[in-house]
Amino acid sequence: MVHITFVQGDITRQQADAIVNAANSSLLGGGGVDGAIHRAGGPAILDACRDLRASHYGKGLPTGRAVVTPAGRLAARWVVHTVGPVYSADEDRSELLASCYRESLRVADELGARTVAFPAISTGIYRWPMDDAARIAVATVREAETAVEEVRFVLFDERAYEAFASQAS
Ligand code: AR6
Repeated sequence: MVHITFVQGDITRQQADAIVNAANSSLLGGGGVDGAIHRAGGPAILDACRDLRASHYGKGLPTGRAVVTPAGRLAARWVVHTVGPVYSADEDRSELLASCYRESLRVADELGARTVAFPAISTGIYRWPMDDAARIAVATVREAETAVEEVRFVLFDERAYEAFASQAS
C-alpha cells in the first residue's frame, strides 16, 4: 500500500522521482505552481511540452489526464503534468479531480517512479475549496492500485497543510 506523507513547502524544491504539475491544457505554462515549476526547471520542460503538443495533443491535454516530461534543472527526474478541473458549484467535477491523481500515478508507474510529490491540484487559480480537494486527493491516492511507494503531498501554506494532514488516518 502506498505510504502517504504531507509537508508544507515549495514543490520545486522536493527530492522525488517525479513531481506533479497542476498545468492547464495548453501545457505551455501559466501562473501558480505551473509557473514556479517552469521557472525553476528551465526551458527543457517547455521544449518537451511543445513536442507533446505537436506530436499527440494538438488540441491540448484534456482535463483529468496526465503526461510526463523531463524535469530540467529540478532535483526530480520527471515532471508529470496534469490538468485539474476548474471548480464549479453547479456541476460535480470531483471525478475529474480524482482522475488527475489516478492518471498521474498511472504515468508514474509506467516510469517506474517510487516517490511522487503532488501539489493541491485545482485549489489555486481553479478555485476548488481546499477541504474538499484534500478529501478527494487523499481518498483517491489511498485507493489507487500503484507500485509507487511514497506519495508526498506538498502544501504551499499552513491552511492547505492542515486540510490535507487532517485527512491522514
Ligand atoms: N509548491 C507547492 N504548491 C504551490 C506552489 C509551489 N511552488 N505554488 C502554488 N502552489 P495553482 P490550479 C499551490 O493555481 O488551481 C496555472 O496558471 C497553490 O497555493 O497553481 O490547479 C496553470 O497553468 C494552490 O494550493 O493551480 C493553470 O492555468 C495549488 O498549488 C491553473 O493555474 C494549486 O494552485 C491551474 O490552477
